[in-house]
Amino acid sequence: MKQQGIDHFSGKRVWVIGASSGIGEACAKALLLKGAKVALSSRRAERLNVIASTAGADQTLVTPLDVTNNTQLQDGYKTLVSAWGGLDLLLFVSGTYVPLRADNFDIKVAEKTIDANLLGPMRAVALVIPEMLKAHSGHIAIVGSVAGYSGLPKALAYGPSKAAIINFCENLYYDLLPTGVSVHMISPGFVATEATAQNDFEMPALISAEEAASEILAGIQKGEFDIHFPKRFTRFLKFLRILPYPIYFWIVRRFVKI
Ligand SMILES: NC(=O)c1ccc[n+]([C@@H]2O[C@H](COP(=O)([O-])OP(=O)(O)OC[C@H]3O[C@@H](n4cnc5c(N)ncnc54)[C@H](OP(=O)(O)O)[C@@H]3O)[C@@H](O)[C@H]2O)c1
Repeated sequence: MKQQGIDHFSGKRVWVIGASSGIGEACAKALLLKGAKVALSSRRAERLNVIASTAGADQTLVTPLDVTNNTQLQDGYKTLVSAWGGLDLLLFVSGTYVPLRADNFDIKVAEKTIDANLLGPMRAVALVIPEMLKAHSGHIAIVGSVAGYSGLPKALAYGPSKAAIINFCENLYYDLLPTGVSVHMISPGFVATEATAQNDFEMPALISAEEAASEILAGIQKGEFDIHFPKRFTRFLKFLRILPYPIYFWIVRRFVKI
């Protein structure tokens, strides 16, 4: 059994959460160009309004919200459903990254990271699943990270939040495949955005947010569950995670200079 893709995005109702910058902004802009109706969400309303102003008024909705606030997510979803009657694709891109190592591990930062990066997507999925199940159709796409594949330096809260997204997506895929609802787990490598601008090391196989958006939309169209890119980097990381731990940790210590 293979899950459904999307023939074309024209007229499709898409909710992009985390649309104000980086990968989410690039996805929102690409979707608008392809004729989709896009509901734009994140905290910075002014940036969402600027993106919305590039398209027709009937093509966009601006629903500012914080993904750590369930009421705001519920209100955003209600606005979208009353305007458009339903949702074809939830594209959850929002995420936060604060570099943390054992010597500066801060439980408050860890709690905020898990709240935004793991509970945020769970809240959004809980909202959209009932109607998608009734309709026997719909797409749920969540941006995780290759940082969730296995332990890497400077990711003491971010890494676990993204590892949990992989497990969450695997569970969802297993449950939803027979129902007609598609699940897309998105694992980017390094992408040049505001989030990675803070990195003080050379990022291997760095791609632009526009390239990332193009990979994401192509993967969703094809109905792929495991959307990962750029392949020259992600395939190497997928190989690393099947190695025995002593070899894995030796390679990480030898080559990851951060
Ligand atoms: N860039 C990379 O190399 C890379 C690699 C792997 C995975 N990723 C993942 O890709 C996703 C996008 O990252 P990016 O690099 O594009 O980062 P970015 O430019 O910093 O964008 C992050 C987006 O998330 C939104 N956001 C953050 N916290 C939020 C909250 N509490 N409520 C609502 N929206 C929130 C931000 O909007 P507001 O500030 O307006 O709320 C913004 O739209 C993240 O999930 C990230 O973990 C990125």
